[in-house]
Amino acid sequence: MTAREPFPFEATPLTPALGARIGGITLADAMDDATFDALYAAFLRYQVLLFPSQDVPPARQVALARRFGEVQVHVMNQYHADGFPELYRLSNLDAQGNPNGKHPDRGTLAWHTDGSWQRRTGQATIIYGEVMPQTGGETHFCDMYGAYERLSDDWKRRIEPLRAVHNLDFSRTRRHGEDPMTEAQKRAVPPVDHPVVRTHPETRRRCLFLGDHAEYIVGMPYEEGRALIEELNALAPHPDLTYEHRWTTGELILWDNRCTMHRATSYDPATQKRVIRRCTVIGEVPA
Ligand SMILES: [Fe+2]
Repeated sequence: MTAREPFPFEATPLTPALGARIGGITLADAMDDATFDALYAAFLRYQVLLFPSQDVPPARQVALARRFGEVQVHVMNQYHADGFPELYRLSNLDAQGNPNGKHPDRGTLAWHTDGSWQRRTGQATIIYGEVMPQTGGETHFCDMYGAYERLSDDWKRRIEPLRAVHNLDFSRTRRHGEDPMTEAQKRAVPPVDHPVVRTHPETRRRCLFLGDHAEYIVGMPYEEGRALIEELNALAPHPDLTYEHRWTTGELILWDNRCTMHRATSYDPATQKRVIRRCTVIGEVPA
């Protein structure tokens, strides 16, 4: 089923729960306000928008992100790309363009929500698939409205007052063994606490807000909080509320971090090539 109305482009749902394929927009062209407004409405409605393979120059990706809001300049500055501090490239290629055998960010393999380690967390993330592997390296999205709604009343009551501390240094370095953050990088992103249940600031729907950057629960013994976070992170993704995307080079996906989690699947970094170019728009302080 393809819905042409009320949007001035094609929006074809990818699953009954979330995601839509958007047709009829050339992202390399400047976008008029009416089209952007409709695109934003589709973003709120579908949570994940997929654009078919096309050329999206770095400047156009940044320009699109800026329509959504302030674009994050990522603290992990070794990944900055193309002269735009807003763009962040994850690649397993060496200087000759061959696979180097090293996964560039193993933290992406766990369900998470971008920028939850900041006071103002991620709103939209926009990823362009510059080179995508033949096998593996998929991106999966799950619906966190549905994850909250399907919790038992007991669970809902229990987590209602809780706040979780999100910490990039915890998820990135201690859990996934990536290169240590520098002291300056750590100082730039100290741990922050957010409600475990947040209300989406635009749709006003409630959603679960945890993911892999969540380290512990405020006021709860550390290990007890860890166990609770792990249990909820495992409960949240329901197969029928998940969209699993197998990439084709040149596709672009944008999604709402406030009401979804995502993860990448593994691939063989010694034989497969995977290069993505991403940027994240900074949203609100969760409430
Ligand atoms: Fe991510």
